[in-house]
Amino acid sequence: MTHRSIGIIVNGVTGRMGYRQHLVRSLLAIREAGGVTVADGTTIWPEPILVGRTETKLRDLAARHGLTDWTTDLASALARDDVEIYFDAQVTQQREKAIRQAIEAGKHIYTEKPLAEDTAAALDLARAADAAGVRTGVVQDKLFLPGLRKLKRLVDGGFFGRILSVRGEFGYWVFEGDWQPAQRPSWNYRAEDGGGITSDMFPHWHYVLEELFGRVAAVTCVTATHVPERVDEVGRPYQATADDAAYAVFELDGGIIAQINSSWGVRVYRDELVEFQVDGTEGSAVAGLRTCRVQHRAVTPKPVWNPDLPATEDFRAQWAEVPDNEEFDNGFKAQWEAYLRHVVAGEPFRWDFLAGARGVQLAELGLRSAREGRRVEVPELVAR
Ligand SMILES: NC(=O)c1ccc[n+]([C@@H]2O[C@H](COP(=O)([O-])OP(=O)(O)OC[C@H]3O[C@@H](n4cnc5c(N)ncnc54)[C@H](O)[C@@H]3O)[C@@H](O)[C@H]2O)c1
Repeated sequence: MTHRSIGIIVNGVTGRMGYRQHLVRSLLAIREAGGVTVADGTTIWPEPILVGRTETKLRDLAARHGLTDWTTDLASALARDDVEIYFDAQVTQQREKAIRQAIEAGKHIYTEKPLAEDTAAALDLARAADAAGVRTGVVQDKLFLPGLRKLKRLVDGGFFGRILSVRGEFGYWVFEGDWQPAQRPSWNYRAEDGGGITSDMFPHWHYVLEELFGRVAAVTCVTATHVPERVDEVGRPYQATADDAAYAVFELDGGIIAQINSSWGVRVYRDELVEFQVDGTEGSAVAGLRTCRVQHRAVTPKPVWNPDLPATEDFRAQWAEVPDNEEFDNGFKAQWEAYLRHVVAGEPFRWDFLAGARGVQLAELGLRSAREGRRVEVPELVAR
C-alpha cells in the first residue's frame, strides 16, 4: 500500500469555516480515519500548512492540534514543491487575488463559495485555472448533507412523478450584537466588505437546484435590509449596508418553480434551519439538513377548507420518515475526500470553478432582479 502525503495550504484557517469545518472536521478528521484510500490502494495523507494574517493565532491553533507547519507568508507557502493544493476559506473579498497567485504557482485549488465577487471574475478564474491545467473545486457542502442526499435518492428513484415545485425556507435570527453578541461575523452585513445574504446563499441554492431538479433559467428576487444598524465584534455600532433577506422565485428548465426565502431576520418555527418542500404528481417530500419526510399520493389526505372548525387532522403526523440506509459523514469532509481523489487519482469531480461561477452568476442576477424590480433570465455560462 502506497502512502501519498499531499501538502495543502489552508488559508483563512482562523475563520469560522476554515477552522471548524475544513481543518478540524475535514482534514484532521481524514487523518484520524487513516487517510483517504483510492482504487489502486494508495492512501492520501493531507499535510495542512496553516496560512493566515496573525502569527499568534496561527501558532496557538497549530499547537492545539499538534501541527507545526504555519506561516503568514502566502507567497513562500505557494513556492514550496511539497504543496500541491491551495485551499481558500478567507473572507470572500480576499479570495480572487489569492486564487490568482495559486494558479500562477501551478497549484490545484479548492475553495469556499462564493468563488469570486462577480461573474466576470469567477469565469476568468475558471478559464485561467483551465489554461494552467490545475484541478479546481468549490465547496458545495449542502449536497452531501443527509437530508439532501435522501431527497436526491427520491428524485433519482422517481418518487415524485412530475415535479411541480420546490419551496425552501432558510434562516434564523442573527442577533444585532448589542445586548447579545451576533453569531455571524460583521462583514456579512456590510456590502463594502463583500457581505449580503444573496451573495452568501444563492451559490448554495444554485447547486442544490441544479443538481437535484434542473438548470436555473430565470430569477425574480426581492431583497431587504431588515435590520439597518448592528454592533460589531468590538462593540462598535455600524450601518448594515448589505441585504439580510432575499425572497426569490427561480424558474427551472422543465417548468419546475422553486421559491426560496433566505433571511437572517426570521425566528425559527421549523424542524431545521433550512427546509425544502418538493411537491410532485406522485408524492411530496420535506427535507432538512438531516431528515427527510414523504407523503405519497396514495396516502394524501383530503383537507376541506372550513375556517369555522378547528384543524381536524394532525398534518405533520401524516408524513413518513425516509430511512438513512447508509452512514452519512460530515458533508465538508465527504467533499474533501472526493476532491483529494480527483487530484491524486483523477476521479471525476464536477463541482469545479465553472460550477462555482454559475453560483456567483445566480447571486449577481438575483441582486440585479431586486435592484431593477424585474425577472432576469440566466444565460448559460461556457468555459470559453
Ligand atoms: N459553505 C458554507 O456553508 C459556508 C458558511 C459560511 C461561510 N462560508 C464562506 O466561507 C468564507 C469565510 O467565512 P467565515 O464565516 O468563516 O468568515 P470569518 O470572518 O469567520 O473568517 C474569515 C477568515 O478570513 C481571514 N481574512 C483574510 N483577510 C481578511 C480581511 N482582510 N478581513 C477580514 N478577515 C480576513 C480571517 O482572518 C479569517 O481567517 C466566506 O467566503 C463565506 O462565504 C461558507
